[in-house]
Amino acid sequence: MWPHFVFLAAVLLLLQTQLAAAANQTNTTNDVLLTSQLGPYPVTINSYEVKTNRTDPLAPTHQLRNLVVTVYRPASKNLTCPTQDQDRIPYARPEVLKALLGLLPSSGNSSSAANEDTALLPALERVQIANCTASDLSASSKNPILLFGPGLRATHDVYTTITMASASFGYTVIAIDHTYESAAVVFPDGSVNYTSPTTFKLIQEGHKGIATIQDIRTADVASVLDAMEKGQIPGLERGTNEKQIAMYGHSLGGSTATNAALMDNRIKASINLDGTFFGAPNETIVHKPLLMVGYPTDWPNFYANHDDGWKTWVQINNTEHYSYTDLPLIADLLNLRGKAIPLSLTGTINSQRLQAIISSYTNHFFDFFLRGEKTNFFQGPRANYPDVQFIAHSQPKD
Ligand SMILES: *[C@@H]1O[C@H](CO)[C@@H](O)[C@H](O)[C@H]1NC(C)=O
Ligand SMILES: *[C@@H]1O[C@H](CO)[C@@H](O)[C@H](O)[C@H]1NC(C)=O
Ligand SMILES: *[C@@H]1O[C@H](CO)[C@@H](O)[C@H](O)[C@H]1NC(C)=O
Ligand SMILES: *[C@@H]1O[C@H](CO)[C@@H](O)[C@H](O)[C@H]1NC(C)=O
Ligand SMILES: *[C@@H]1O[C@H](CO)[C@@H](O)[C@H](O)[C@H]1NC(C)=O
Ligand SMILES: *[C@@H]1O[C@H](CO)[C@@H](O)[C@H](O)[C@H]1NC(C)=O
Ligand SMILES: *[C@@H]1O[C@H](CO)[C@@H](O)[C@H](O)[C@H]1NC(C)=O
Ligand SMILES: *[C@@H]1O[C@H](CO)[C@@H](O)[C@H](O)[C@H]1NC(C)=O
Ligand SMILES: *[C@@H]1O[C@H](CO)[C@@H](O)[C@H](O)[C@H]1NC(C)=O
Repeated sequence: MWPHFVFLAAVLLLLQTQLAAAANQTNTTNDVLLTSQLGPYPVTINSYEVKTNRTDPLAPTHQLRNLVVTVYRPASKNLTCPTQDQDRIPYARPEVLKALLGLLPSSGNSSSAANEDTALLPALERVQIANCTASDLSASSKNPILLFGPGLRATHDVYTTITMASASFGYTVIAIDHTYESAAVVFPDGSVNYTSPTTFKLIQEGHKGIATIQDIRTADVASVLDAMEKGQIPGLERGTNEKQIAMYGHSLGGSTATNAALMDNRIKASINLDGTFFGAPNETIVHKPLLMVGYPTDWPNFYANHDDGWKTWVQINNTEHYSYTDLPLIADLLNLRGKAIPLSLTGTINSQRLQAIISSYTNHFFDFFLRGEKTNFFQGPRANYPDVQFIAHSQPKD
């Protein structure tokens, strides 16, 4: 009954040898680059801490809530990032990878899942991403802004193929990690916070608890926009009222994107990638533009009950819930698809084709609603995308 978000069959039987390998920083000849620059611009990645004025409802001790945002910025002054300025950096910190692996659903065979997890960790450590170190932070200050929300307990790391692709087309993407909910949040000073007992309790409560987590996330989104308005995120000092802002996300992050658009008038539109709608967006009519990509079991009911506002719903053939993460590309790069990374996670779709589809649909949507580029892309099936099923489109009633 929890098809889209609960993976608490955490398998943490990491053996000593694998931990040692995890700590081994040797640059082997086997490194692979997670290619995510689909557009013309190289991308610069920076993480910042956002200190909020809100009491942290998830922290184990009484404290104000602090978040970490990762900003993916197009190096838009110059389309080339010279080779010496292209830093290949680790895909994610080892402790984050380890914590994230614990989120994957077990295949129902706990001994085999444990084997898969322990084999995956050293493999994932071979994955790198490109960071253009030469860009001028203020150069992209006028770009439209996309907020990104990860799935329940996930982090920004596992959506690099999606967020970096958007940045490479000229969007500044701010991906939010939700402290004490995410499996592991790394602060700029190197300290790490893990999922708190309060979060686990909320998840166990089911729909109501998840909706509470979504409300906390939505307040986090507002805090991030407040911090941006106050000039606390370097390079994004200009007021948000001068910016075009939308939000997208996967799973609970997708529902949160729509919830944030509903609650915050600074956010113009949202995209939900395969996320069950919780709380307010499920209970209220969403009037702001909404692109739905995927097919969670309750979406037919949702669509039928939300018959106002601009909406398009599409489904990509041969995908699974985790297709909307980096797993398909990573599985192909490491030759682990259908093996240590099962098809039940990645689907059978070609990973580059999948990247191209997600990038095209999200770009068209944001170009339309943030840059005002008129399009009829969403009103029916597209000849270039026979593998994308057009399910429904509706216009606002007036
Ligand atoms: C680290 O990697 C090197 C080269 O692959 C290997 O020789 C060494 O044994 C590894 N160390 C550990 C602790 O795994
Ligand atoms: C090691 O790192 C460098 C630079 O970070 C990278 O270019 C290279 O592909 C990596 N692998 C090897 C074998 O040097
Ligand atoms: C937090 O609240 C205090 C008092 O209300 C205010 O002075 C301060 O500017 C706020 N800080 C931030 C970062 O919003
Ligand atoms: C862009 O960068 C390249 C490499 O540094 C340089 O040769 C070129 O002149 C730059 N172009 C512009 C328009 O600044
Ligand atoms: C579980 O995995 C183990 C190891 O891969 C395998 O030997 C066993 O047959 C599997 N059991 C089931 C029920 O699939
Ligand atoms: C990417 O490069 C910039 C500029 O050198 C640097 O400030 C930033 O920390 C790098 N990002 C990561 C994730 O290493
Ligand atoms: C969270 O990180 C802070 C440092 O930023 C650390 O002081 C604190 O102990 C961590 N909390 C937990 C529960 O690990
Ligand atoms: C969404 O609302 C419907 C009623 O319209 C309800 O049956 C369903 O449980 C709700 N979904 C969630 C995830 O709360
Ligand atoms: C996509 O799936 C639909 C429904 O199963 C099918 O009708 C269509 O032919 C598929 N498209 C491609 C290109 O396989």
